[in-house]
Amino acid sequence: MPFDRVFLDELAARNDIVDIVSQYVQLKKSGANYFGLCPFHNEKTASFSVAPDKQIFHCFGCGAGGSVITFVMKAEGLEFPDAVRFLAGKAGMEVPTQGEADRQAARRRDRLYALCKDAARFFYDTLWQPENRAVQQYFFNRGLHRRTMNRFGLGYAPDNFSALLDAMKAKGYTREEMLDAGLLSKSEKGRVYDRFRGRVMFPIIDVRGNVIAFGGRVMDDSKPKYLNSPETPIFHKSRNLFALNLAKTTRNGYFILAEGYMDVIALHQAGFDSAVASLGTSLTEDQARMMARHTSEIVISYDADGAGQAAAQRAIDILGRCDLQVKVLKIPGAKDPDEFLREKGPDAFRNLIERSENHNAYRLEQIASKYDLEDDEARVLFLKDAARMLAGIDSGVEREVYASKAARMAGVTPEAMLVEVKRELGIRLKKRKTAERREIRSPVGMAQPKDRSLTYPDIKSAKAEEGVLRLIFSDQKLVAGLKKDLPAAWFSAPVLRKIYERALELDAEGHMVDVVAFEGYLEPGEMSHLTRVLNEGVPAAEQQKALLEYINTIRLQRVKDGTTAEQGEDPLLTFGRMKKQNAGGQTI
Ligand code: UTP
Ligand code: MN
Repeated sequence: MPFDRVFLDELAARNDIVDIVSQYVQLKKSGANYFGLCPFHNEKTASFSVAPDKQIFHCFGCGAGGSVITFVMKAEGLEFPDAVRFLAGKAGMEVPTQGEADRQAARRRDRLYALCKDAARFFYDTLWQPENRAVQQYFFNRGLHRRTMNRFGLGYAPDNFSALLDAMKAKGYTREEMLDAGLLSKSEKGRVYDRFRGRVMFPIIDVRGNVIAFGGRVMDDSKPKYLNSPETPIFHKSRNLFALNLAKTTRNGYFILAEGYMDVIALHQAGFDSAVASLGTSLTEDQARMMARHTSEIVISYDADGAGQAAAQRAIDILGRCDLQVKVLKIPGAKDPDEFLREKGPDAFRNLIERSENHNAYRLEQIASKYDLEDDEARVLFLKDAARMLAGIDSGVEREVYASKAARMAGVTPEAMLVEVKRELGIRLKKRKTAERREIRSPVGMAQPKDRSLTYPDIKSAKAEEGVLRLIFSDQKLVAGLKKDLPAAWFSAPVLRKIYERALELDAEGHMVDVVAFEGYLEPGEMSHLTRVLNEGVPAAEQQKALLEYINTIRLQRVKDGTTAEQGEDPLLTFGRMKKQNAGGQTI
């Protein structure tokens, strides 16, 4: 975390969460808390809550939650440091300069930015040398105009082991820096040499306009076709999108998500200035969130081959989770957008976008492609398969639209299709009811976390672990002695253990254990889980006793699963003894 803890505490103290949230949401007081319509998802009934005592917000609808800093990050679309600056400005506070270690790291990163920029300039200059006409011609043959090439800063790395090394040395950069920037490779004997040789070069530029990495393509059929920079202190592949620096200022209402460098460049040249690429990896959630800051709709335009279509399926899910509208483009008669544009032109592509299908239609087609719809038996199977997918669509109107479509595809009446869908909906409803009943009846009376990746492996233990966290967040004095009595290793739920460990650490360092201290440390899903846990409230009295009971419950579970035994004692004995100890108090 780049900011000083004391400063962050002060910042949070001077920006009361109720005041800040009130500037975006109309809040009504009810009991100790405030409620309003969630600004982060569409809703008609207020499920968004603010707890002034804990200085947190939490939405019971979409699960968003955190401190005032998370709120500003989400409401203003800012990264953590910028949200901190935003709040500091509001409170008239000065943002302290960073510690020496941070300053050094920042200086080192600045050197790498400068180096990558100089390297890009070197590749660019090399490309336009008269002796490299053939390379220029390579790009021209692929249909690029000189203006487009300059816009993307395209270049050429000569077929030489030290051309860049020498040029950058002359500019004062060290070998270490060039290695750190991923521009050099090292042989087993320790010799260093240019990583990119005899390749046309595509600079990768971050959203602020810094060159941070490169992709280099061979000009023939040799392998690998593209060589990319490795992960470096300034380049994290999963957190960057090619051409986002250009696409972010588009006036199109949508982004086009393509697979390759050349697809994006061809798209921009053809006037589609909102095209980006995920750099050959499958799309990550970070990348989806980055796009969500600039647009609300994505047109997936991946390669027509099987790999591209499979990647599109995965991307649909990831984009959907970020509340992005998704359409999927099918590119007929060409392997990718670049090839399609060259053969059919921009108007044809615009047509494709206009006719591109909502992802539901796309999914339906994917299902249909598994069955031979001429065959009666296969048609029945298709109907059942499609009904399962259709039952998952929330909107009734949309569900009917796609049910009719599925019916047409299978050559049955819409009514017949709807009967199947209703049956599926019935099954779903029953399943949900059973699950709810089970939840209410269950002795521990709690649900698994909303976020599936945080699933509790041991609910009974996790419930007690949650209780411990609630207690120490409400009264930090209770942390005393916990380190010994309740080792973090006894926590069964990884997310709760992570929070617990941090809380112990904060307390040991003399800091406050509050939600602000977890900003920038927990992932958004973990943060909203924490706010949900804290929202449940703590016993009003006898907290020390409650804490001991929680600890006993957890210890009992650990003895049961063999994680721990009382020293030198047979685990079964321990178990029996502790059960007796626990019998006095209620089991939690
Ligand atoms: P493609 O193989 O579809 O390449 O890979 P392309 O973009 O159509 O390339 P051209 O048209 O032949 O020049 C899509 C993307 O996957 C990554 C690159 O980012 C590429 O743009 N990739 C591909 C690699 O990183 N390495 C490779 O060897 C191949
Ligand atoms: Mn291509």
